[in-house]
Amino acid sequence: MPTTLAFDVYGTLIDTHAVVTGLREIVGNKAEEFSRTWRDKQLEYSFRRGLMRNYENFAVCIRQALDYCCANYQLSLSHEQKNKLLGVYRVLPAFKDVLESLSRLKAADFRIYAFSNGSVDAVEMLLVSAGIRDFFLAIVSADELKTFKPNPDVYRHFLMKSGTVGDNAWLISSNPFDVIGAVSAGMKAAWVRRSREAVFDPWGIEPSITISGLSDLKEKIDEYSNRR
Ligand code: 2OP
Repeated sequence: MPTTLAFDVYGTLIDTHAVVTGLREIVGNKAEEFSRTWRDKQLEYSFRRGLMRNYENFAVCIRQALDYCCANYQLSLSHEQKNKLLGVYRVLPAFKDVLESLSRLKAADFRIYAFSNGSVDAVEMLLVSAGIRDFFLAIVSADELKTFKPNPDVYRHFLMKSGTVGDNAWLISSNPFDVIGAVSAGMKAAWVRRSREAVFDPWGIEPSITISGLSDLKEKIDEYSNRR
């Protein structure tokens, strides 16, 4: 059975900080900090909503996190400015290493899926806009369970939808919470450490492999598999 790859989307395939360019026009030199706070807060909202069982889809978490940032930085953005930023978030670019990596993995017969908190429609738009939709057999979304990563049910849902088992499936993610969630649910996981400042949580639950980008993902998975 070919190995199945579950690619996280926001922050792994898609560069959420590409929104900084649009942000800079509106918030000036606070754009980088604003973008990081926006990303952290949208994830925090997903965790809180999951724990509270007060589900709204990830697009609501993104929008409400934007509203939080405006209040936090005491910036009164107009309705048009917010909609412009949310529009940019719906069509963010892929990282530069994605296209070639996916091409090589597909040629090597890996079964490739997109696996995200984002709704199927939102992820579809991102992948189409980034020009990479055709690499994916399907999009599997936590929205189908009305909860969020790292709920273990979400990883089990992925395995069921992709018709595989944890021992033959890899999560590929830049988000340590996602990697810890997948390993805890019995999958293998590659942590994509896209930033040198990124710290992996000291929980004693480690990724199967750590890579700094997607360029050598295939080689690192092959090496791992040959060592087993
Ligand atoms: C995802 O795409 C939020 O990065 C996370 O599911």
